Amino acid sequence: MTEVAVEAADGKAEQVHQDMRDEILAALRQPQPELPSKYFYDDRGARLFERICTLPEYYPTRAELAILEAYAADIAAELGPGCEIVEPGSGEGVKIRRLLSALDRPSVYRPIDVAGAQLDEAAATLRAEYPRLTVTPVHADFTRPLDLPPAQGRRVFFFPGSTIGNFLPEEAIGLLRQWHAVAGTQGRLLIGVDLRKDPETLRAAYNDAAGVTAEFNRNILRHINRALGADFVPEQWQHEATYDERSGRVEMWLQALRDQRVQLPPDAPLDFRAGQRIRTEYSCKYAIEEFEQLAGRAGWGPICAWTDPDALFSLQLFRAA
Ligand code: AVI
Repeated sequence: MTEVAVEAADGKAEQVHQDMRDEILAALRQPQPELPSKYFYDDRGARLFERICTLPEYYPTRAELAILEAYAADIAAELGPGCEIVEPGSGEGVKIRRLLSALDRPSVYRPIDVAGAQLDEAAATLRAEYPRLTVTPVHADFTRPLDLPPAQGRRVFFFPGSTIGNFLPEEAIGLLRQWHAVAGTQGRLLIGVDLRKDPETLRAAYNDAAGVTAEFNRNILRHINRALGADFVPEQWQHEATYDERSGRVEMWLQALRDQRVQLPPDAPLDFRAGQRIRTEYSCKYAIEEFEQLAGRAGWGPICAWTDPDALFSLQLFRAA
């Protein structure tokens, strides 16, 4: 790299650091302190989440894979030949393989992710597996407005995993609206949505017996310590996950086990009292019609919703109405 390029890269890293610090400080200083759930996912957080997906209590991953297994051919028939697939927050891609393998000659796959190195690696692997598919990674934060080239075939937004539930309904509508704007009139949205269900199943899914979710939750503090030089003591925070039946929301919290002062360098001391809680995540659950209404407010019209045999999870298909 030339000296100028190094300087530019350093400048960008500094800006990212500053933005993260500003965002975290503002969130922690709210009357109800919060942390943005995107900060769960450093390398360790991503590995912990992979473990969560295999836990006996955490049903969403298994249920969604079962839906894809059972209905991939029906989904492919609905989507038709020559589709372009856009996948926001693509990660490592078990689910996309199930979809791509079922589709009739998909034209282009555009995975979108902030983790540039992983994205390029995953793209190279997919190119080797699907030599006729054009794989064009987009290194971007999918919550920001997307700048995509003209679609090559019907553009399908594929957003599995029920990540949409980690946004509050109004934010989710904003995100789906942005995608609607770049999907085109023939566009489709294929989205994983976790369903409302009995509170016990939900509480168990977010309070697993092995304590992996607790460790995942506390990892957000480790990530902030490492990234910003803060001095949270993760062991001084207790994991809690609650479910509010009325709103259909699981909420994850970290509760302070004693009074403590946390330093966020260079000059931001934060005081927490014993028992005080930081909210770290929402995970919204919907009835199928409830989510159809939400998507409708973003311009998407329902085509079909598939569920697993126990009706725990849904994969829903929409048209750009
Ligand atoms: C990524 N997201 C859909 C997960 C969820 O279920 O809301 C994150 C998670 N949090 C705790 N366990 C899993």
